[in-house]
Amino acid sequence: MDGTGTDQTRAAEARLAEAVGLTASIGLAVVHTAILPLRTRRPSMLLGEGQVADQGRSLTQNDVEVVIIDAALSPVQQRNLERAWSCKVIDRTGLILDIFGERAATKEGSLQVELAHLEYQRSRLVRSWTHLERQRGGFGFLGGPGETQIEADRRLIGERLVRLRKELDQVRRTRGLHRSARQRVPFPVIALVGYTNAGKSTLFNTLTGAAVTARDQLFATLDPTMRGLALPSGRRVILSDTVGFISQLPHELVEAFRATLEEVAEADVILHVRDVAHPESAAQRGDVVSVLDSMVTDGTLDASWPDRTIEVLNKADLLGGIDQVPLRPGAVAVSAITGDGLESLKAAIDARIAAGMELADYDIPPQDGARLAWLYQHGEVVERQDADNAVHMRVRLLAADRARFERRD
Ligand code: GTP
Repeated sequence: MDGTGTDQTRAAEARLAEAVGLTASIGLAVVHTAILPLRTRRPSMLLGEGQVADQGRSLTQNDVEVVIIDAALSPVQQRNLERAWSCKVIDRTGLILDIFGERAATKEGSLQVELAHLEYQRSRLVRSWTHLERQRGGFGFLGGPGETQIEADRRLIGERLVRLRKELDQVRRTRGLHRSARQRVPFPVIALVGYTNAGKSTLFNTLTGAAVTARDQLFATLDPTMRGLALPSGRRVILSDTVGFISQLPHELVEAFRATLEEVAEADVILHVRDVAHPESAAQRGDVVSVLDSMVTDGTLDASWPDRTIEVLNKADLLGGIDQVPLRPGAVAVSAITGDGLESLKAAIDARIAAGMELADYDIPPQDGARLAWLYQHGEVVERQDADNAVHMRVRLLAADRARFERRD
């Protein structure tokens, strides 16, 4: 943290809370935290000598194995801190890369994250790598001292980068094919987006927790960040969690982050989860909207995304209840912790799906039980008239389902 003053202390506390949340999200247990004011940024270790020594004592007392510094460290600073503290040191970029790596759901997302990771590693070949990379599937070839080893590593990384870029190009070209394959999931998909700590995972668990039964075996085959949910209408949907937005994302990670959001493009409804009690709530909203807009500009997201979006104003309990939250059009106030407002949210999702459905008329031969059953399963049958040679069906269907039904003969 630079400078002093109450605002900056609050900002530093908010940053610390975010960093603690991010660290916990990759399965590390946080045993010690500290906010360290910086008078200058020292090139050798970033921190002052006294600070390094003080922290060193706390680290030993707490048996700390990994230190996360919520700032950008130069390779030299990182190596010097690791030597001073005899433990692994990860900077903000390294931490975020780890999170993206765990959460990238699509092929393109994983490639994009690996690309960012390699570029980051290439700049850091001066130091030795410890157990964490190896455990987490990093590159074991890093670590040899001596210039020739470093040069060899750099060349290997360079070659891998060239191959990755080619593969990424290929995946992008066939993106359309992947999309249609994923659309075979037989239920509408609801994607959760929002800042880290907004409460996406809590909401995901509260909404789906009670609904997970043996019948949900189907979902066991899906990504763990996807789960089934039954809406008040009886309609079944799939809820899909995405990686959280992070304040002041290092610019070299923007591409990788956007790639982890790809599944939002496939979603029938987007839930934009917001922490209404957060002092930066409005700015966070602006960030989310501008990232989604930039996905429209580069063609990954349809421009109609706002029509498919519900703003979920979460943590209403902290403002005194859902009635106390100033509402905006298209928004629903909830508390993922107390469960208040969740019924309205589910009803809003139902309504949004229904609004995106199209009315279609079909005449189906009475002996074609499979097609009739399909319509009952995927659509809302509004009218049915049985005649001798055809069953007339008027059905409300999702646009994607309608296209699918009309394709298969
Ligand atoms: P990432 O997984 O890092 O993207 O974060 P997230 O958006 O999934 O947030 P998460 O669900 O992990 O919640 C963050 C913190 O907010 C946790 O400590 C939750 O207990 C808390 N939280 C979530 N929802 C509510 C809520 O409705 N009210 C209150 N008071 N706290 C909440």
